Amino acid sequence: MGKNTTITDLPENLPEHIGFIMDGNGRWAKKRMMPRKFGHVEGAKTFKKIVRYCRDIGIRCISFYAFSTENWKRPDDEVHAIMNLFRQYIDECRQYFLEETRIVFLGDKSVLADDLRQKMIDIENDTKDYHEMTLLLAINYGGRDEIVHAAKTAALKVKSGEISADDITEDLFSRYLYTADYPDVDLLIRPSGEMRLSNYLIWQCAYSEFYFSDVLWPDFTPDELKKALVEYAGRSRRFGGV
Ligand code: FPP
Repeated sequence: MGKNTTITDLPENLPEHIGFIMDGNGRWAKKRMMPRKFGHVEGAKTFKKIVRYCRDIGIRCISFYAFSTENWKRPDDEVHAIMNLFRQYIDECRQYFLEETRIVFLGDKSVLADDLRQKMIDIENDTKDYHEMTLLLAINYGGRDEIVHAAKTAALKVKSGEISADDITEDLFSRYLYTADYPDVDLLIRPSGEMRLSNYLIWQCAYSEFYFSDVLWPDFTPDELKKALVEYAGRSRRFGGV
């Protein structure tokens, strides 16, 4: 736990799954006349602080939008810098094993560099028995892509006779998503002043509470998260009921 952060005054009703859209790294760097990749380095530091804080306060599942299926359009050197941050994090996070955090990647790994894909598979295997907290990292992830992928899985199962079309319910369909074993997002946090979902967990956010903040991701702190948690606890979630 960081020196300046407290876990006092937290509401009792905490979300089971918090989703984070880590936005504003580029603007953070630009404001300092630095290359955009420097913003991602700072963003990665914030990511680690927030993971640690969520674990300290007992959140069961956290997810982060780290690289979208659309982010390949960025300049090569920025994409390389982000991929290298993923490599470094996976190497470094082995020291967190004792903290019982399971790491799972959401997204299509098939187009990633071989060494990165292997590191991802290894860390998923090596942490698969940890249940204290699950960290979902969305890399080469797109919500529509995920749904299309799930629809293809369902279609193939119908074709092979394993299931019938009538068996396809929301519950069964969600078993074919990357998040099959994890709860829907209760609280979705997007910093940096943007108010959109940008193709992140669009199925799993159907009933999420949204929290937007003007703070850029590298400046996002556990205290900022605490504000979101307090606001979340005060919301009335009716899931379509009254
Ligand atoms: C969006 O901000 C951020 C990204 C596309 C990359 C996020 C990646 C990291 C924070 C590194 C994560 C590292 C680990 C270890 C998970 P933006 O670049 O779109 O910002 P802008 O809107 O200000 O341009």
